[in-house]
Amino acid sequence: GKHQLLSVDQFTRESVEDLFRVADMMQPIARRQKVSRVLEGAVLGNLFFEASTRTRVSFGSAFCRLGGSVCDTTGFTFSSMAKGESIYDTSRVMSGYVDAMVIRHPDQGSVAEFARATNIPVVNGGDGPGEHPSQALLDLYTILTEFSRLGKLLDGAHIAMVGDLKYGRTVHSLIKLMALYKNVKFSLVSPKGLEMPSYIIEQASRNGNVIEQKSSLAEGLAGADVIYATRVQKERFANEENEGYTPDFQINRAIIDAYCSPETIVMHPLPRDSRPGANDLSVDLNHDPRLAIFRQTDNGIPIRMAIFAVLLGVEGLVQHSLRDVTW
Ligand code: CP
Repeated sequence: GKHQLLSVDQFTRESVEDLFRVADMMQPIARRQKVSRVLEGAVLGNLFFEASTRTRVSFGSAFCRLGGSVCDTTGFTFSSMAKGESIYDTSRVMSGYVDAMVIRHPDQGSVAEFARATNIPVVNGGDGPGEHPSQALLDLYTILTEFSRLGKLLDGAHIAMVGDLKYGRTVHSLIKLMALYKNVKFSLVSPKGLEMPSYIIEQASRNGNVIEQKSSLAEGLAGADVIYATRVQKERFANEENEGYTPDFQINRAIIDAYCSPETIVMHPLPRDSRPGANDLSVDLNHDPRLAIFRQTDNGIPIRMAIFAVLLGVEGLVQHSLRDVTW
């Protein structure tokens, strides 16, 4: 059968926790204590038709750290799609060159179209405003790791999602994935016009989970165990739609001190927009231990190693493949 990671809809709570156990096995490699060559000889094709630092480099690094190699193309300019080549032909051609593909593309549903044209594993690295399943997996893995340290459970927790919930594909995947857990309270805080699409809210309304839409941080953040901030996806809409986004939605030290406890975790998928007037997650929280953003990015490596191990069917070989580092 086909092995693909296109949407978090593929997961059950059990299969997600199985994947996290594989990620735990990868931690000694991610922490540079062990090496493995379990994917020796395999080649990954990284096709990124949109800008990316984390997803592209961490998928590439994860594949290399398991002994594989990576071939990359970024942007339309450096792909023959610039000459009018179709998704079908591109995917069919790549199938003869590489053993797995990670694809990021600006159109929702396009990565599924790549996947239909090939029998090699395909991973969705972000399809426009659609989904970003590997990000949601590393975010959930981070939340469970932080909760374990704090003695908390995700069942019954309060998660506040803030910002552009309309175009932010990371929150689309994450809320659906977290909805596999029970009695979770979600507060969705977004400027008018940037609300979470109703089809995703309907899908996530299960297992006794409660989803409330709020129009201010004051209403949404009180008592939150996790604050998940997002960047306004300006590249996805015309400027006039951005008017409702004001400094009132910025997560910063004053907001955290006003509404949160010492055990609240502050997350963001990154990148955060550091340009003047962006009002993204503030740098004034950089030294606050509650800020988990770089623990999230670090977790991208074990999670993406686990994704490759499972898609390529080598997860059972990982434990015995571990060797001490020699460098
Ligand atoms: N979080 C994330 O997808 O980052 P990049 O766009 O840098 O890959």
